[in-house]
Amino acid sequence: MGKLLLIGCGKMGGAMLDGWLTRGLAASDVIVAEPVEALRPRKPGLRTVASTPDVRETPEIVVLAVKPQTMDAALADLKRFASEGTVFLSIAAGKTLGYFASHLGATAKVVRAMPNTPAAVRQGITVATAAKGVSAAEKKRCQELLEAVGQALWVEDEALMDPVTALSGSGPAYVFLLVEVMAAAGAKLGLAPDMAMQLARATVAGSCELLRQSVEPAAQLRVNVTSPGGTTAEALKVLMADDGLQPIFDKALAAASRRSKELAG
Ligand SMILES: NC(=O)c1ccc[n+]([C@@H]2O[C@H](COP(=O)([O-])OP(=O)(O)OC[C@H]3O[C@@H](n4cnc5c(N)ncnc54)[C@H](OP(=O)(O)O)[C@@H]3O)[C@@H](O)[C@H]2O)c1
Repeated sequence: MGKLLLIGCGKMGGAMLDGWLTRGLAASDVIVAEPVEALRPRKPGLRTVASTPDVRETPEIVVLAVKPQTMDAALADLKRFASEGTVFLSIAAGKTLGYFASHLGATAKVVRAMPNTPAAVRQGITVATAAKGVSAAEKKRCQELLEAVGQALWVEDEALMDPVTALSGSGPAYVFLLVEVMAAAGAKLGLAPDMAMQLARATVAGSCELLRQSVEPAAQLRVNVTSPGGTTAEALKVLMADDGLQPIFDKALAAASRRSKELAG
């Protein structure tokens, strides 16, 4: 196997690197390019550089984990690898296959992926889409790299990356907001704010873990805690009403998906 070159070792890049090494990827097979010295990992056998012109050998895969706004600058030097058959795996939000083709050349092998922040605890989910020239074996290799931080799925139609971004990319924020609004609602009913937050946080975190471990559908887990005529049923009448959570989420995800499309240009 050739070298893996990681561009950017911030929150996402760092989480992916940890996942790869934990899963047995040899540190000597990875080169990390990261301008911020404090973020450059120090691990036996792992080579780090401040900037990519210092990398002479052609990597098998370049993982692009820089912010979208610094992508142009990063690609200016990396373009030289595109004609050598290197696969580019990008996790940058809103950077399309067309964008990469215009910067790296129309025949560049590019995989565009959208991970999410639970990747930091290896419970992420990533959706990826590949440019035409990427082989099944190269997709499999990218899949292995993405699975080091959670699950990975593929879509053929790149347009689906907008709703994916709206659902799973931005989704962790909706869950954290749920904790905030549950805590605020509890406080309004008389609980001390600290206690309300502790209850809301533990309830959402515990329920997420239950969901993760269970094979039952989410709807069944909901039914399991809803006794007929009880307190949960009373709350769900409000949350599941015609003007309850569903229309709000329909509106929120549509807005996020629209924004994802706009950002992609
Ligand atoms: N965090 C999320 O929730 C999330 C979810 C899905 C996708 N993503 C995507 O993941 C990507 C990374 O996000 P992040 O939150 O991990 O960002 P981050 O913490 O800012 O990490 C990016 C790192 O890359 C460095 N960098 C910039 N230009 C570079 C270059 N030319 N060569 C090498 N390193 C370079 C940055 O240094 P400087 O600070 O000096 O620029 C920074 O340390 C983004 O494109 C984002 O869209 C993030």
